[in-house]
Amino acid sequence: MFDDKAAHMIIAQSNLVVVAFFLIFIISCTKSHPLDPLSPSEINKTRHIVENSYLGAIPNLTYHFVDVEEPNKNDVLKWLSSKNTKDKPTVTVPRQAKVVVRANGDTHELVVDLTRGSILSDKIYNGHGYPPFTFTELFKASKLPLQYPKFKESISKRGLNLSEVSCVPFTIGWYGEEITKRELKVACFYRGGSVNVWARPIEGITVLVDVDSMKITMYNDRYKAPLPKAEGTDFQSSMSNNNNINISDNNSVGFSMNANEVKWDKWVFHVGFNARAGMIISTASIFDEREQKYRRVLYRGHVSETFVPYMDPTEEWYFRTFMDAGEFGFGRAADSLQPGIDCPPNALFMDGFMAGPNAEVQQVPRAICIFERNSGNVAWRHMEINNPIKTIRNGEPEISLVVRMIATVGNYDYVLDWEFLRSGSIKVGVRLFHSLSISN
Ligand SMILES: *[C@@H]1O[C@H](CO)[C@@H](O)[C@H](O)[C@H]1NC(C)=O
Ligand SMILES: *[C@@H]1O[C@H](CO)[C@@H](O)[C@H](O)[C@H]1NC(C)=O
Ligand SMILES: *[C@@H]1O[C@H](CO)[C@@H](O)[C@H](O)[C@H]1NC(C)=O
Ligand SMILES: *[C@@H]1O[C@H](CO)[C@@H](O)[C@H](O)[C@H]1NC(C)=O
Ligand SMILES: *[C@@H]1O[C@H](CO)[C@@H](O)[C@H](O)[C@H]1NC(C)=O
Repeated sequence: MFDDKAAHMIIAQSNLVVVAFFLIFIISCTKSHPLDPLSPSEINKTRHIVENSYLGAIPNLTYHFVDVEEPNKNDVLKWLSSKNTKDKPTVTVPRQAKVVVRANGDTHELVVDLTRGSILSDKIYNGHGYPPFTFTELFKASKLPLQYPKFKESISKRGLNLSEVSCVPFTIGWYGEEITKRELKVACFYRGGSVNVWARPIEGITVLVDVDSMKITMYNDRYKAPLPKAEGTDFQSSMSNNNNINISDNNSVGFSMNANEVKWDKWVFHVGFNARAGMIISTASIFDEREQKYRRVLYRGHVSETFVPYMDPTEEWYFRTFMDAGEFGFGRAADSLQPGIDCPPNALFMDGFMAGPNAEVQQVPRAICIFERNSGNVAWRHMEINNPIKTIRNGEPEISLVVRMIATVGNYDYVLDWEFLRSGSIKVGVRLFHSLSISN
């Protein structure tokens, strides 16, 4: 949290989009899955197609979102069931990209046909709100106060050292009024004596930034508040053996992967990634022994939004009503997983790919990990003494397959788990860690 006052006010609500139904299909991976995320070369291709259109001539074109255009669900289902009967799927699902760019102050929503190399549709969005800021915009805005004379004055008035100040860009919330500008508010923190940037907020200051002109348009220094202590705020582990785990010891696990498709026990499912949702689980099916066929369990599942309203009405806090997935992006915030810490030694890792502000390819190494877990629980057991021939004692340990990613949004680290069980259930879990400050 940013201070002790807010520590008891965390509300992180995660809604998970889940659609479930049944259908038969058999796995024979001969062609890439229609829900595969855009590959690095497809991201490049998308950029070339957009740059070769009239949009390429507009200066300062920025890319705010690039993803695979979600194919029609019926087409995906036809593609999957055609794998059932033929070696090669007979249905071709069009490969398209969804692109949101800003040019000349307009937000364009494009659908790009990657096969034909053309823009299929180009709509200007005129509704409320704006696409997510690019990380370049967030970064530039966060640096503005450090050059701003009134802010420098506020810092020296507080007896602080400007070199020890870090500022962070915050979205401004939505209060129903006509918002005509893309704006951010920048909050600043004092590092002095602590590596925990969040522990010592410099309260009382409001900085409003107009992102299009990248200028501070409003500044208010309302009051001085004591800084929380630096002591006891270091979040670094004192465990010395973190790096002694030999991750090459066992990389061969009881599941197999074909591109983005995972097979484990009776399960088969697809793992995707994008800038907004991060990890996406699709077309999960389980083999039904009795019916001798696959049953569809889940079409597509991912975090749809995480809402964090701080519920503090003061001028410096009222707007802190973050939508961590929609405003910052769980994929954009995906942190590279640390082998042996974030994921156990038997984990396999997948990289994530996204487009940056100029549609350049950005790679998140080890964005997702997949591993088998023995929970230590009993999946089922029985001991039978009433059998005259022999006593039977049997059972199985509860083993599951976990697909994990971690999104670090500011001082919040969300650990997202999709856990597949042999019983046929899917457990979805979110754990949240946040760096906390200790007040004086
Ligand atoms: C994408 O484009 C960049 C820059 O032009 C290039 O360095 C990179 O190799 C390309 N990647 C692929 C997979 O085509
Ligand atoms: C493009 O960006 C540059 C540098 O940020 C800026 O000076 C220029 O005014 C921008 N041009 C347009 C048309 O927005
Ligand atoms: C301010 O902080 C910087 C960086 O930590 C340090 O080098 C400098 O000596 C400090 N200045 C004062 C006046 O304490
Ligand atoms: C890690 O495991 C590999 C393969 O089993 C082995 O060659 C290597 O010596 C091990 N390294 C350490 C530090 O134990
Ligand atoms: C890794 O562990 C799995 C499951 O316990 C086992 O089947 C496999 O043989 C092990 N592989 C290696 C290289 O030790």
